[in-house]
Amino acid sequence: MLRVAVCVSGGGTNLQAIIDAVASGKIVNAQIVRVVSNNRNAYALTRAEKAGIEGICVSPKDFKNREQFNLALLEKLKEADPDLIVLAGFMVAVPACVIDAFRGKIINIHPALIPSFCGKGYYGLHVHEKVLARGAKVTGATVHFVDEDLDHGPILLQKAVEVKEGDTPEVLQRRVMEEAEWILLPEAISLIAQGRVRIDENGITHISDK
Ligand code: GRF
Repeated sequence: MLRVAVCVSGGGTNLQAIIDAVASGKIVNAQIVRVVSNNRNAYALTRAEKAGIEGICVSPKDFKNREQFNLALLEKLKEADPDLIVLAGFMVAVPACVIDAFRGKIINIHPALIPSFCGKGYYGLHVHEKVLARGAKVTGATVHFVDEDLDHGPILLQKAVEVKEGDTPEVLQRRVMEEAEWILLPEAISLIAQGRVRIDENGITHISDK
């Protein structure tokens, strides 16, 4: 059984997609063992509580400096003894100590088709604002493994979403969530739980058949 820890910051719709996929059997052989939020007001924590999953808050505001926060985050993640850490709308730069401790075991959902519209400043609604400002006709979402560089690790899954005439950033964000994010993240966890994902020496992922 794959032990999964999910890191969140906000509404938790991606967390909810994972919870629902486990409950419906779309994700087999995995269980969410802990939800960790940097934001005590994140509705994602309420979603975890309603699903009977332990939710905790590790807020930078509760520590005298960033290093102390980083170490506390690492400690709370280690305590859960996860096989996989999922960043689901997590708005905190993952500290190097966490990446070192869980190298190759952290995935993130990015609301664009990496390498487009990613990196510093590309998060949440800002991503969709820039997609619209550029006049892109297709966007989407990406699940990738996390390394020291922002939105840079091996790409695992991607799904394209049409940009429509008259889209606002909010409308486009919702479509990307519904048509891509909420599908890709559960699928990625399921593939990893089935042992079907391999990363080669060039940092390219390969998904084996069932
Ligand atoms: C979404 O835009 C998602 O793409 C990004 O974080 C935002 C909030 O996600 N990763 P959630 O509703 O908290 O899962």
